[in-house]
Amino acid sequence: MKENEPLLDEPLLEVSKLTLDYNLGKRKMRALDRVSFQIEKGEIIGVAGESGCGKSTLGLAIIKLLPKIASIRRGEILFEGQDLLKLSEDQMNKKIRGQKISMIFQNPQDALNPVFTIEKQMVDILKTQRLYKIRG
Ligand SMILES: Nc1ncnc2c1ncn2[C@@H]1O[C@H](COP(=O)(O)OP(=O)(O)OP(=O)(O)O)[C@@H](O)[C@H]1O
Ligand SMILES: [Mg+2]
Repeated sequence: MKENEPLLDEPLLEVSKLTLDYNLGKRKMRALDRVSFQIEKGEIIGVAGESGCGKSTLGLAIIKLLPKIASIRRGEILFEGQDLLKLSEDQMNKKIRGQKISMIFQNPQDALNPVFTIEKQMVDILKTQRLYKIRG
């Protein structure tokens, strides 16, 4: 590295070796097995895979809205360098959910209004969170 070269920003989201089971009575079903990826600021990623492969489980784990029968066995979810798995419910509600990370749940007809553009609906959320700065 050259002298005085700025350090690269840390990733916005870094998921490492995330491993999760659904406890089904005596049986456990591993829904996520060492899932690792990172998202840089401004980057958009998609997760594709067959039905039941764990896409929704991954989203629910990141925003910490998993059902009680789910247990995270291993791994880290670093958001802006902070391990979300270590935050309390209260901290998640105050600092993260709806402010920094939002989820549009499966069945988007229930979450999005077809009369308005997706952009308007996303911007409305940010305005409500008082984070939206009108440009120009
Ligand atoms: N609440 C739950 N209790 C028990 N098992 C669950 C639960 N939610 C998901 N699973 C199981 O975990 C696995 C991953 O499911 P998940 O819903 O994350 O898949 P998905 O990739 O989102 O599928 P789809 O494309 O159908 O939405 C599946 O085998 C599913 O049956
Ligand atoms: Mg799903």
